[in-house]
Amino acid sequence: MAERVRVAVLLSGRGSNMRALVEYKRRDPERNYDIILVASNVPPARGLVLAKRFAIPTWAKSHEGLDRAAFDGLLDAELAANGIELVALAGYMRLLSEGFVRKWEGRLLNIHPSLLPLHKGLDTHRRALLAGDEYGGCSVHLVTPELDSGPVIAQARVRILPRDDADSLAARVLEEEHRLYPLALDEYCRALRETETAS
Ligand code: GRF
Repeated sequence: MAERVRVAVLLSGRGSNMRALVEYKRRDPERNYDIILVASNVPPARGLVLAKRFAIPTWAKSHEGLDRAAFDGLLDAELAANGIELVALAGYMRLLSEGFVRKWEGRLLNIHPSLLPLHKGLDTHRRALLAGDEYGGCSVHLVTPELDSGPVIAQARVRILPRDDADSLAARVLEEEHRLYPLALDEYCRALRETETAS
């Protein structure tokens, strides 16, 4: 049996998706990934506190005062030092440099709170409501240099209710995110190992 895929989670905020990824793995050690590192560009991020409670190594450095490529270079060195094979963005609120994205192409996932290609970028729930969409939802996708535009590998829909506002919709979508992201990451890692074994 090949080793589990060594994953780093990148976050900037509360870290609820990171927690979902960790808890899914803890419920069944046979899952195809291990969360080796949680890294952040926001040293006081709540997600880092959570990661420490889970006893997962963390790395935090503010990007302030550094240009994008320089910051991503430091991040990349940390990933290499930890033998990371795949990066899962989970509320990482900083655009990555093109060099970093290209280097990690095919091994860089993100979760976005909309049914991509609809509503890329921020403020997705309010925009789904304004557009009169019947469904909101979330997408797990591969990251490419263009924002929120890489191939979608998994999606979950959430029906928009007449009484919904952006907050109520966001809360229901977030529940789906927590269900979808671990499944998608696990399946992606399984397929990755399978491809490696075949080649
Ligand atoms: C989630 O809604 C995710 O889809 C988006 O940022 C939010 C992060 O939330 N990319 P959390 O930090 O995982 O709780």
